[in-house]
Formats: sequence, structure tokens, C-alpha cells
Amino acid sequence: MLKITNLRCKDLKEALGISRKELSFSWILESDFRNTMQTAYQIKVGERQTVIWNSQVVKGDQSTYVPYQGAELKSRGEYWWQVTVWDNHGQKAESEKMFFEIALEQNDFLAKWIEPDLPPIRDEPEGSMLRTMYQALVPQKNGDPGRKLTPCSYLRKEFVLNDEIEKARMYITAHGVYRASINGESVDTRLLAPEFDSYNEQLLFQTYDVTASLRKGRNVVGVVIADGWWGGRIHFVGASCFYGNRHGLLLQIEIICRNGNTEIITSDEQFRCSTGPFCYSDLFIGEKYDANREMTGWDLPGYRTDHWKKVLPAEYALDNLYPQENPPIKIIKSFHPKEILTTPRGETVIDVGQVMAGKIRIRIQAPKNTEITFQHSELLDEDGNYLHNIMGRNKQQLDTYICRGEGEEVYEPVFTYHGFRYVKVVGYPGVLTTEHIDVLVIASDNEETGSFSCSNQLLNQLQSNIYWSQISNFISIPTDCPQREKDGWTGDIGVYAPTALYLQDNKAFLEKWLRDLIAEQRESGSVPDAVPINTKGPGRGEASAGWGDAAVLVPWALYRSSGDIRILQLQYESMKRWVAFEERKAAEKNPAKFEHSTKYRNSPELQKYSKYLWNTGKHYGDWLIPSMVKNNPLGADAGAKKTGQAVATAYFANSAHIMKQVSEILGDNKSAAHYDALYKNICRAFTLCFLEEDGTIQPEFQGIYVMALKFDLIPKEYRKKCTEKLLRLIVKNDGCLDTGFLSVGHILDVLTKEGHIDAAYKLLYNDKCPSWLYEVKMGATTLWENWNSISEDGKIGKSSYNHYAFGCVGEWMYRNIGGLEMIEPGYKKFRVRPRPDETLTMAALRYRSVYGEIAVEWKKKDGKMILKVNIPANTQAEVILMDGSMRVCGSGEYVFDCFFS
Ligand code: BGC
Repeated sequence: MLKITNLRCKDLKEALGISRKELSFSWILESDFRNTMQTAYQIKVGERQTVIWNSQVVKGDQSTYVPYQGAELKSRGEYWWQVTVWDNHGQKAESEKMFFEIALEQNDFLAKWIEPDLPPIRDEPEGSMLRTMYQALVPQKNGDPGRKLTPCSYLRKEFVLNDEIEKARMYITAHGVYRASINGESVDTRLLAPEFDSYNEQLLFQTYDVTASLRKGRNVVGVVIADGWWGGRIHFVGASCFYGNRHGLLLQIEIICRNGNTEIITSDEQFRCSTGPFCYSDLFIGEKYDANREMTGWDLPGYRTDHWKKVLPAEYALDNLYPQENPPIKIIKSFHPKEILTTPRGETVIDVGQVMAGKIRIRIQAPKNTEITFQHSELLDEDGNYLHNIMGRNKQQLDTYICRGEGEEVYEPVFTYHGFRYVKVVGYPGVLTTEHIDVLVIASDNEETGSFSCSNQLLNQLQSNIYWSQISNFISIPTDCPQREKDGWTGDIGVYAPTALYLQDNKAFLEKWLRDLIAEQRESGSVPDAVPINTKGPGRGEASAGWGDAAVLVPWALYRSSGDIRILQLQYESMKRWVAFEERKAAEKNPAKFEHSTKYRNSPELQKYSKYLWNTGKHYGDWLIPSMVKNNPLGADAGAKKTGQAVATAYFANSAHIMKQVSEILGDNKSAAHYDALYKNICRAFTLCFLEEDGTIQPEFQGIYVMALKFDLIPKEYRKKCTEKLLRLIVKNDGCLDTGFLSVGHILDVLTKEGHIDAAYKLLYNDKCPSWLYEVKMGATTLWENWNSISEDGKIGKSSYNHYAFGCVGEWMYRNIGGLEMIEPGYKKFRVRPRPDETLTMAALRYRSVYGEIAVEWKKKDGKMILKVNIPANTQAEVILMDGSMRVCGSGEYVFDCFFS
């Protein structure tokens, strides 16, 4: 039987309130027959009974991202779509009807922005915290930060509906983060809407179906707004008011009544506002809630608002509004903590058992006005006492609850989240048990697509650490860490995206972020090293190589994992502008940098090619090279200085090379030829400048060899010599990694490709510092920012314990241990080729590609490898067995056994 499953409009299961632009349809085929290929499809799109677009029968196997090609769809329009497919076994299947609804177009907003007439958010000056953070010189100041923080705003409006309700939609967004209700009921379970964007260019709005919450008669819409990313403390600098200093609301409820009338309720001056129990709520500092100030009934009809204040209309253009299409932030898991500790210092500390991002929910019974505080951190100190590991300004992560004193009270912060494992509780009366607490893990609700396990438990823990660092940092934007910065550092996601996209379907999530990237891209083509931009001062938006290259790397990774060419089309201009910027920056070379180089003076060829060496500007280089960081707080900067020029040139070459492929895919042959020549010229320049006759590459760091080999920057005849040099450097470094951000994801790959998979396994299994399994051995439950965050003698460092960047090794494990490798984008064609070492005895991998579930399971038995493979319909796989023989297979389940040769 042929079945159609996983129907998606754009990338969404539930497509309520989407933009009518770039509409596409995808589905997955499931069949009982082997070798199933789709031979044709037909899509119909309809409005009620009328078909408005019929693709007719289209021959071929396209089952993903088929673009809608009918007449323009209407703002608020409600549509269905359905697909029929035929396959090569003469089977036919018809899908269920799926619904989608177009959001309001910007022009259809009748609503106006309103702002509560309450004190503004305090603007905190920006200070450079980078150095102090790494020197750990600024200890966290605790105490009540409340005096400088603004209370959350409560806004309400009462209105009357004269008939029963047929259909109602709420379109809403805010300056700040909001929670909305109708007649006291929350309109949704999502958190921190409207999320974080480059607000000046893109502000998401949400669409909710509120049909069931409204009724004939009196109704109330209530909205609570906190500072959020709009006005609260954000980024590593912990400054505030990046976008504005007032809360704001834009809201439009459209109601179709049974009698056919339409009612529209908008944000206007009929709203009233007040402060309430939320004394403040800040994404970094934390939240303070005084339950005595609760205003029972404020969100229901009939509440007296005599003492409430007016709201003021505000002028903001609506051209930044964009409907939210990325999965909302939600509580994605909850569990009870592992244990409650009493530390040697006598502190009560909750250990949730896992470094994570989120919050806790606690049940309390205590006398009126009891004040309880909860401070969050990622670890305990050497003696087992609570340690606040986050340096920098305004990073308290401290929530405060003041009790009402009437029976059981339940508290959970609403407008903040923290990066933590431990919570120090002060002021809780009685004995706190794990039963009183729910640990709430929050993340953007991206669908999980991949899993991996094998016979090595340490690697399984590493895999779990990768997963946890990913979900902790995929919260509206891809962040570096959930506690200290919550920043969209471009370099981090640039290196990590391929691993991320295996574990989850992050397509809509990253597409939204790429719109922010385009918004932040400077006129020069420069891409700031964090998106949304993280500084207000001068020099805003300066690019670093490897970071700005995310403009190319992320769309490329998205295209490769999904096969959706549209992502390249949408980003193409931006990608080109970035590489043009690199080209210009390289050409503006700084001759002073060459002055001392005899090599340069003596080589007219190098002088000629030097315009392809990117040696201007400030770069992070191969950031956080362990040998540079070790015992040297400024080591990261020193490493950046030493490697900046070679790394910038290497990443420039890589981007040019990717652009050649992208231009070819998009049929832009002229550009493809340009990028091809550019790439070759950069390679020549790199070779002339950094490569020596004996295969040494300067500056001599593992990462520089890795990049030269990975990006094919040096002539073929040097590969062997350079690989040997790299191997020697590893041995010299006691068999340990000495790679930073930009090279660590490639080192195992390079060794494997050059015929040294044994050396790759050795690095992977190494558990001396620095290495992945060192962290595991030291009890890590996430990836750390610094390999030696906890040193071998147990000394605890004050840095982030939840940075996903070094987790980019995941991709190598899935490919080589799991044995799944993409051949054609979207895994339309893939290779199954597990390459275990002698110690591994089994592995199991699952990946839900856009064509369906791929499964690879292998185990060793009696000198043989038993390999089970599931290949989805409409795809093809090359299965390479342990003896090197290859089978080409169509869809279906297969079992192979083969002796190890
Ligand atoms: C962040 C990194 C980021 C880096 C830039 C750090 O503070 O945590 O992950 O990429 O700055 O060098």
C-alpha cells in the first residue's frame, strides 16, 4: 500500500497565520513495496468547495518544496491543500486535506501601537565587558536589583459582542515579551512571544485561534508585557533599551459572528493599564513576583479599573511586521529534580541533574510576605558549595517570590529563563523535597529528527551533551550560551549547523534567523559577528572572518539537509554581498603586515597574489585554541592574533568555493566562473604565503593544517606531507586536540579523508584535557565553552558550561559510526557506510529526512557485521559493506551481513 504522511505547508504541520510568500508543499511517501519511486503528483489547493489551483498531473519524483503557483492568496484566507501521487508500482494514494491560513498583511492592520503610561525602562550604558568576562575580574554583585527595574505592564480592554461567534483570530505582537488572555484564559502555551529579532527590520506577530474563548456578551482581552529583548538587559554587555524604553502593544482581534457581521477589536486608547504582581522580569537578572499584588479578576469582565492608567498611542511603522512561521518557544520537557542538597556552607540547593535552559516551578506553603529567592548557576564549587559561574554585569539569574500566605501557592517565572543545573533556594520555610519542584526545559519547539547511540557509553553521553547544548541554545535564535550572553554569535552556528540539522528540523527556525542576518548586513556587505547585533556603540557590526561567513555556511547547510533550493534563492544576494565584502577587504591589504616578511619581498608572485590574503580587520581567528587559552586569560585573544590572517584567508576561500557551487545550482554561470577563479586565486595566495616546501604551514597550529586540508587550499602533492605534520603536532600535544572554534569540527574528517581514521578515533576517545571525553569524564552534561572549564585538579572555572560550538563533532560520529552520509541534498541519495574501529560493537542511528525515516543499525557478531538499513521511498542509497563492496538499493528494509575484511 502507498501512503502519504508528514504533509507540510512551508515547513509547518500547523500553518495558521503564515505569510503568503514562498508557499510550498512537501510530503513523505510510505510503501510496502521495495524500490518505490514517485512517478507523478497532483496538488490541489482550494478555498471551501472551490479548487483555486490545480497543478495537474506533474510527472516526476519531486515530493518536497513544490512551490504554489496559483493566483495570489488573500490576507486572512483559509485554504486547504491535497496531493495525489502515483508510483512506479502502479499504486496511487491521495492525502488527507490539510489546512493553512494566511496571516494579516501589513496593510490590513487597523490597529495602532499603544504604550502604557507608566515609567520607562532604565537605559543602562554600555560598557566593554569582553575582557573583564574572560579575566573573570567582575564578580557577580548580588542583592536586589529591583530599584532600577520596571514592573511588567498589565493592559486590558473590555468589549461586547452581540452574537455567537463563528470564527475569531487574534493577531498580536509587542514591544517586550507578552502573555495574552481572553476572559482569563491564556490564548496559547507559547513563551516569550514575539521572540527575538532584529526588531527594526523584523518583528514577528502571532496569530491565535480564539474562537472558543470569546462569547456573546462582555469579553476582556488582557495582556501582560515584560521588558524582554526589546528593552531589557541583553547580550554579553548586559545593557538595556537596545530597541526602545517603553512596553508597547499591537493587537487586532477579528471576529466573524454567526449573523455574518464582522467585529474588529484593536489596540487603541480604550485600553487601560496598570502594574501588578510582576515587580520586574528581566531575561538575565531574573523575575520578582509579589503575589500580594495580584489583581484577581483583572482579566475578566466587570473589573473596576478606576485606578488604572491610560495608554498612549504611539507612532511606529508597521513595515517590520512578519508572521511567525518558526516553531514557538515552549516547555518541551518537564521532570522532578535529581536531589535537594544541603551544601557544606548550609545552603539549600536544588540539583536538577542536567545543565539546561529553562526554569523551575515550585509549590510553596508559607506565611504571608515570606520572600523566597531562587538563584541559578551551572555548578558547585570545589567544596560542593553553590557557585555563581556567570561573570559580567546584570547576570544574576535570580528569581524572587513573595507569598500570599493562603494555602498552596505555585510559582514559575513567566518572562525569563536561565541557564543552570543548580538552584540555590533562600527563605523556603519547611523541608523542600523534589516533589515540590518541576524542572521546566524551554526551547524553540523544533521537531526532533535524529538520534544516535552506540556501544561506547562515553560517546553516548557526549551525544546527550550535544543534544542538551543544542536545545538550551535554540531559543528563538541560535545563541552561544543560555546564561551569560544569549547572543546570536554567527560563528557558533556557522560551525555547528550541520550537526544541529541532523538532530532537529531547524529549517524554519534558522530561516527566520537568516532574515535577521539579512536585516543586519551592512551596506558594505559586512555581516556583524552577532545577529541580532549585540552592541550599540561605534564599530557596530564589524565583521570577523569565520563569523560573518555564517552568511554562506548556514544557508548552505540548510540547503544540503533539506534540498530546498528556495533557501539559496532567498539568501543569494546576501551571500554574494558577504563574499564581495571579503574580496574587497582582502584587496585593501595592509602592507604593514608584510613589511617584515622576506618571503613577501622576495616573491613577486606573492606580491601579485597578496590581494587574496585577508589580513585587514579584527578577527577571532581559530577562537579558543586550548594551548593559547591554558593558564592565560587573554589567550583567546592571543590565539586570535596569531591565527587571524591565515584563518580569514582560509574561510574566505571556503566561502568562495561554496559560492561557486551555489551559483551553479542557481544557473548563474557567470558568477560561478568568477567564484571558481576567486577560489583558485585564494588557494594560490594561501599556498604562497603560508605553505613551506617541507609541508609546514605557518602559523603552525593544528587548526591551520586542518583548514588547509579541509578547504583544499594547498596543491595535492603537499597533502601527505601536511597530514604528517598535523599528525606530528597531535602526538607532540600528548595526543590531544589543539583546535579552536573554526577547525575543531573538521579535524576528524580531515584525518579520516587522508586515510588516518585510526588517528581520528584516537582523538575522539582521548579523555585527557582538552578532549570531548575529558568533559564527559569530568561529569559534563552539556558541551563547555572552554575545554578546561574544570581543570584536571578539579579547579572550577567561571565560564559557560553550555556552548554547543564544540559539539560539531556530532556530524562526524553520525557519518562514520552511524554510517549515514548525504550524497544528494535532502538525502535524496545517500551512502550507508559505518566505519567502526575495533572496539565498537554496535551503533543505531535514525534520521527523519524530508523523504522519510532513514535507519541504520549495525552490530558485530562472529567476525561479521550485521547491518540493517531502512531506506525511505523516493530515495536511493549506496550501501558499502565492510569488505568494500557496494550495493545500490532503492527504498525498503534490508539486512546485510559481511565479514570484516
Ligand atoms: C561567545 C562565543 C562567541 C565569541 C566571539 C564569546 O563571548 O560566548 O561563543 O562566538 O564570544 O568570539
